[in-house]
Amino acid sequence: MRAELAQLREAALAEIAACRTEAELEAIRVRYLGRKGSLNAILRGLGALSAAERPAIGALANEVKDAIVAALAARSEQLGAERLRRSLSEDRIDVTLPGRARPRGHLHPLRQTEEDVVDIFVSMGFHVAEGPEIEDDEHNFGALNFPPDHPARDTQDTLFVALGDDVLLRTHTSPVQIRVMRAAKPPLRVIVPGTVYRRDELDPTHSPMFHQVEGFMVDERVTFADLKGVLVQFLRRLFGPHTRVRFRPSFFPFTEPSAEVDIGCAACSPTDPDPACRVCHGNGWLEILGSGLIHPNVLRAVGYDPEKVQGFAFGMGTDRLTLLRHGFDDLRLLFETDVRFLGQFPV
Ligand code: PHE
Repeated sequence: MRAELAQLREAALAEIAACRTEAELEAIRVRYLGRKGSLNAILRGLGALSAAERPAIGALANEVKDAIVAALAARSEQLGAERLRRSLSEDRIDVTLPGRARPRGHLHPLRQTEEDVVDIFVSMGFHVAEGPEIEDDEHNFGALNFPPDHPARDTQDTLFVALGDDVLLRTHTSPVQIRVMRAAKPPLRVIVPGTVYRRDELDPTHSPMFHQVEGFMVDERVTFADLKGVLVQFLRRLFGPHTRVRFRPSFFPFTEPSAEVDIGCAACSPTDPDPACRVCHGNGWLEILGSGLIHPNVLRAVGYDPEKVQGFAFGMGTDRLTLLRHGFDDLRLLFETDVRFLGQFPV
């Protein structure tokens, strides 16, 4: 039995020394030291020995086992170190290679403008409201003091949804004034971004679908001075602190008095306009907003008393604002979803 153990030790140590992989090493361990391994096979013969022989053989068996365990551990460490060296030299990473940039998206320039406009008014205490794009005649026209025969009601301008002439696509965001005022009481400061529709052919300056931002304020003793203060402040925040602002008399059925609001052309100048200017075409001024004090008939239509509260309202075209800000002059570019174009206007 001594000889068998000595032979087993020799064989195991030789195999361990010759072994090349960690998997092979594990197979060797199982073959020699496993429950059904060679060492246990020898030790099962222990029972046949005399009581005098048994302790010495047992001790020898333990010695052989310890030697094999130690050899396995040493070889395992060597193989591990070799594997590490190999992977370090083979899987080398060149940290100086350029990275793979992931393209980063951004808001559509129209949405950027809308957000910027809304944010300025929110900072002045206005709340955001929205209303339906499918409206009825009463909200879009009647309550806004359009006479029954007003040309804006003409089918030339308005897109009707169903048979009959009461259900239509809103032609402006002003009906939201009516909805908000009927649902709430003054004081009100409200800003309304939205999509509107008119029967226009698509060309560089017209689209059957376009966007507006409406705003209004209602409180006691609101005057035209409040309107001017708020709009001048807004325009200078959006177009720069030195922007010139001009109020021109105008007409809307739902405001009285009414004013169109222009800004001085920044590409040339309102005091010395360039006849060849691509932005204002020699006008020196650019029309930005419609505005006015809310007509008493409108206040009455929503159940307010015009003797007690007054208001101002304004509306602007988000699409046109976007063209002006970025210096291009074809509306259609905004709706063609060409990322090669739109990608040029990051936030
Ligand atoms: N609703 C008007 C338009 O679409 C704009 C406007 C809004 C004018 C509010 C005055 C007051 O042209």
